[in-house]
Amino acid sequence: MVRNPFKPGFGLIPPYLAGREECHREFKRVVENLREGSQPKSILMVGPRGCGKTSLLGACRRVIESAGVKNLRMKRFSSDLPLSQEDLAAALLKRAFRLRRPAEMKLGGERLGVTARWAPSMTASHLFEELIRDCRSAPLLIMVDEGSQESAESFSALFNLSQKINDETGNIVLVLAGTPGTLDLIKASGATFYDRAEKFNIGLLSDDASCEAIEKPLAEVGLSIDADVLEEVVGDSQGFPYFLQVWGEKLVDEARETSAKKIARSHLAQASPRVATAKNGIYESRCEDWADDDLRVLAGVLAVTQEKRSSGVLTKSGLQEAIESVLEDCAREQSESAALAQQIIHTGFLWKPMDDHNLILGLPSFAGYITERAESKA
Ligand SMILES: Nc1ncnc2c1ncn2[C@@H]1O[C@H](COP(=O)(O)OP(=O)(O)OP(=O)(O)O)[C@@H](O)[C@H]1O
Ligand SMILES: [Mg+2]
Repeated sequence: MVRNPFKPGFGLIPPYLAGREECHREFKRVVENLREGSQPKSILMVGPRGCGKTSLLGACRRVIESAGVKNLRMKRFSSDLPLSQEDLAAALLKRAFRLRRPAEMKLGGERLGVTARWAPSMTASHLFEELIRDCRSAPLLIMVDEGSQESAESFSALFNLSQKINDETGNIVLVLAGTPGTLDLIKASGATFYDRAEKFNIGLLSDDASCEAIEKPLAEVGLSIDADVLEEVVGDSQGFPYFLQVWGEKLVDEARETSAKKIARSHLAQASPRVATAKNGIYESRCEDWADDDLRVLAGVLAVTQEKRSSGVLTKSGLQEAIESVLEDCAREQSESAALAQQIIHTGFLWKPMDDHNLILGLPSFAGYITERAESKA
């Protein structure tokens, strides 16, 4: 029986990472630059939930592992950045020690090496000195995922520390990923990181990339897919990577049942209800982020902004106005509009790709879902 290459799941690297070539290439350049001793630019990836930031970071990690870059150290934080520069320096030093030397000193349960001196009583300036010494000997790459879970304070510590190390050694690089809410935190940290970083919007996949996300893994296990069926699957997924993985998984399950080598319309029909269940699960869990009354406002905002969104001219102030008019219709306080606008942006319901003025839907089919939900409850 053929293996099922698809494994939908948040944070899981897909069997084929489609449509992210540019960012992947930039990451390879970063690694190359670090190896050659030329200072690379840091990377910032921003996109709504489920569009593939964690997967992309995972693929980047593989670049380092498969290239066998021995002297490059990497530390990955996932929403747990220390709040102060000192704590951050200590966390990075511990990591650096552990990777480089056999354990010879034990501290706080963690085994440490001894080339760089480190003691709990070390002052901030000692910590920086040691870390700088350490980075001179080998480059350090810091990855941060789930940036929106951080605080402006922790970003500020990260940016200031990396700037210091950079000035002294040129041997450090940051790769940051998060939902659109991350941008507010980065900007509030007052650092120039945003201006200096190489920026990538991790949004919905194009139709071509969506086709590849399905076809390539199928080909790997000796399966093909009818062109019409593929078109339908791509249309239904609307470029949302998670849904493509779900479709892939269910279609391969059906093909295996019938020992078919080509996925046909009959498989689509069988898989369809199972895909719908999985999609509804996602929509329902997203609805849980919202109070019922707010969901109705959201549906109203969608109706009011429909024209602007389809012509691609919905700005943040346009959103604010739309929210205010819907609140008025619902006899709710205008003062709630700022908090609602923030939630809309923070959940990635609507988001603004970097270097763009206009808001677009993070997951278009979810918008359709809540419109229907509001109508059925009206
Ligand atoms: N480029 C891609 N091509 C195909 N599938 C992808 C791609 N990127 C991500 N996926 C799949 O989509 C799903 C969601 O990806 P991932 O968890 O990386 O998203 P995310 O942006 O980190 O989400 P969150 O914001 O919730 O953390 C996973 O099943 C993953 O395998
Ligand atoms: Mg993620």
